[in-house]
Amino acid sequence: MTEQDFIPQYYDSSILTEGSYTWKTPSNIALVKYWGKKDPQIPENTSISFTLNNCHTITSMEFIKRRSESDHISDQGETLKQVQRDEMNFEIYFEGEKKEAFKPKIASFFERIKRYAPYLNDYNIVINSKNSFPHSSGIASSASGMSALALCIMSLEKEFNVSMTDDYFYKKASFLARLGSGSACRSIKGEIVVWGKHELIAGSSDLYGVEFADEVHESFKNYQDTILLVDTGEKQVSSTVGHGLMHGHPFAKERFKQAEENISKIKTVLKSGDLKTFVNLVESEALTLHSMMMTSNPYFILMKPNTLKIINKIWEYRATTNSNLCFTLDAGANVHLLFPVIEKENVSKFVEKELAQYCQNNQYICDIVGNGATLL
Ligand code: DP6
Repeated sequence: MTEQDFIPQYYDSSILTEGSYTWKTPSNIALVKYWGKKDPQIPENTSISFTLNNCHTITSMEFIKRRSESDHISDQGETLKQVQRDEMNFEIYFEGEKKEAFKPKIASFFERIKRYAPYLNDYNIVINSKNSFPHSSGIASSASGMSALALCIMSLEKEFNVSMTDDYFYKKASFLARLGSGSACRSIKGEIVVWGKHELIAGSSDLYGVEFADEVHESFKNYQDTILLVDTGEKQVSSTVGHGLMHGHPFAKERFKQAEENISKIKTVLKSGDLKTFVNLVESEALTLHSMMMTSNPYFILMKPNTLKIINKIWEYRATTNSNLCFTLDAGANVHLLFPVIEKENVSKFVEKELAQYCQNNQYICDIVGNGATLL
């Protein structure tokens, strides 16, 4: 499918004066990382992720038809008053509180998708969102946040196009989510999701994520992800800035090539259940991501001393047991521990005894692979 396929041919917003949709959408953790992009939100390489189950966002979007070309939401978010027609009218509440600080990011998302969702301009919009994970946990909320918005928008679009297929609904939701935040397009549907065109992944696209449809070995069923909250503060460098630093990066070309090769390798591993190779590949991806940060200019380090202490503890643990526990990192200091469900009891003990001490306030979150968003 091309971008053109996501532009609605016809819609009649007069059929709907108001509507409200609520979606629960998951966060995801990449195994092969997306780091580097071209305009508009096109990844430099293919990435693949596990969808999480417990770390999620619940977002409601209320659409109220503008009575005239000039209606909009007042500062109270309840009544209507005059403004310019081409201004997007929305308010955002996060965990019950109005959040002006979130508006610019969402406004630029609406701006980017207006060709694909022109009907939004006919409505005043009120967004209410909350996360299952602690607000300042350092867990990326943009993936679950943007995927939730995209799905609410698709629920509205479906009202104008009742014969829309599920396939189109989810593809376009992923397409829109991508325009909000790249990794968000992998937080729509499926346990394992691939984003970016790859010759070995049927149906893969730079425009949206697709469910990994190949055979997956039993060992990966109910795979566990325990997130160690090493640093719950604001990141010093945003992902968007980090992606930008891949332009002109001395190792960028090789890195993008390596990621494509790693997709081919992980496809084989997901089928064979070769956990030793999985561990090697996933940890190498995490460290390569952070190496890219350390070798960009300006350079930066997002890992903290406790991130390294945890990594060393994991390596010691693997050396003394037959464990397949491994770590991965996203763009921050927190550590994701990935392991097969049969190791749950042992790893829980290890985490409690050896790793929790390196987390802020001993905090960690136990999660498991889940299968995507749900309409509430
Ligand atoms: C390190 O999706 O947050 O988590 O597209 O600029 O919103 P934007 O970036 P974002 O980048 C995520 C990067 C990553 C790796 C990954 O999830 O693949």
